[in-house]
Amino acid sequence: MFSNTALAEVQCAAAKVACEIANGPIVPSVTPEEIRSYLTSRYDFAKPLPLEDVIGDVQSMLHKWQVHVTHPRYFGLFNPSVTVASVIADLLVSMYNPQLAAWRTSPAANEIERHTLGWLTGKFGLPATAFSNFTSGGSEANLSAVIVALTRAFPDYGEGGLRQIASSPAIYLTAGAHHGFLKIARMTGLGRCAVRLVAMDADLKIDLSDLARQVANDRRSGLTPLMVVATAGTTAAGVIDPLPEVADFCRAQDLWFHVDAAWGGAAVLSPRLKCHLDGIGEADSITCDAHKWFSVPMGAGMFFCRHRDSVLRAFDSEISFMPAKTSTVTDPYTSTAQWSRRFIGLKLFLALAERGESGYIEMIEHQARMGELLRTLLERQGWRIVNKTPLPLVCFTREGLVASKFLSALHEGQVAWMSEVHLGDGDPVLRACVTSFKTTEADIEWVVGEMSRIQ
Ligand SMILES: Cc1ncc(COP(=O)(O)O)c(C=O)c1O
Repeated sequence: MFSNTALAEVQCAAAKVACEIANGPIVPSVTPEEIRSYLTSRYDFAKPLPLEDVIGDVQSMLHKWQVHVTHPRYFGLFNPSVTVASVIADLLVSMYNPQLAAWRTSPAANEIERHTLGWLTGKFGLPATAFSNFTSGGSEANLSAVIVALTRAFPDYGEGGLRQIASSPAIYLTAGAHHGFLKIARMTGLGRCAVRLVAMDADLKIDLSDLARQVANDRRSGLTPLMVVATAGTTAAGVIDPLPEVADFCRAQDLWFHVDAAWGGAAVLSPRLKCHLDGIGEADSITCDAHKWFSVPMGAGMFFCRHRDSVLRAFDSEISFMPAKTSTVTDPYTSTAQWSRRFIGLKLFLALAERGESGYIEMIEHQARMGELLRTLLERQGWRIVNKTPLPLVCFTREGLVASKFLSALHEGQVAWMSEVHLGDGDPVLRACVTSFKTTEADIEWVVGEMSRIQ
């Protein structure tokens, strides 16, 4: 058993690592050659080495040679700081190594995942009969959505593939949607031409009249419109597409309504923010990553789907070497894209159980408040904010900004990690997302002050 002493030791080690990271550099300076020659000189695997030495060495490499995404001044792509409970969950999972492919092999782990996902299904407003599963990340969840939508729309897709479908299916999304959909189009055999880029309005939200125009044009040209992807928190600008309107359009047009809420989805827990996700409960499918705003380690995505029967048809499998199916439960290997499955859901279960819903609301709303503070202070310092979102992601610029030059100075000075992004036709702007629940007001004030000194 994992004793209280062991727990205290892991908590202590995690706190020490967090403290070293918070007080150290955020951005590394290293070349691939440096790391390769270091590894070659030390690790030929010819003879055993003491584990504690290797662990110490690996920690030193990780400390020196990575962008520290759990640093309170990492304002980057949505790689969160992680709760200690979720770190311990990953350790426990590795120690027990349960195989979740079949229910019979890991009843406890399968039911813990089911219980956790069932709770979130209710938060999203999906019916209790909806299907859900943990995925490796948002990309696998989005892939699952496309496969299930194809299976539902074209019953022969599973057996005969796309060549059974007389007219090419099309998927509608904006340039703000995640680019993983282009890979998905290739992986599913749809091809990138099946991805129709819909125009965005001045706020970078999906333009509903362009969506209607494109769907009608495509139908006239003999294509088969399949799915509309609405993003709830675009990666570049945190924009939330108008979910109720997209839902109505999809219903009227008999199209699959998918909501990619990979990072914005956690806002459903917040009494202050959840109104911005109104309409998400109308979705045919939802992607939401636990390894983003739920602050657990990678990789932990989630896929929710209203149409359980179609999911089961899409991923059905039967093979004699697997444990016999039971009539009362669904085996993950017959209902998801993966076969062997890690116990991904424990990190979310343990973190939710430890903090409770109220603790999660506090973490999420704290980050939203830090985003508002960042926006306010940047404006006060003369920066121009160029995106509109209730989520803690700020895109901004100023007269004469050369984003890449500014970022080099910001990173070299170890002030903060931010990125640049193209929003439309203009020059790149700066992008800062509050991804860490550890970021404080003092961090934001200090960073904005330092930024005004960079030319
Ligand atoms: C909106 C959105 N969808 C999907 C993804 C892909 O998720 P993952 O990186 O977990 O595969 C991301 C990643 O940032 C995202 O922001």
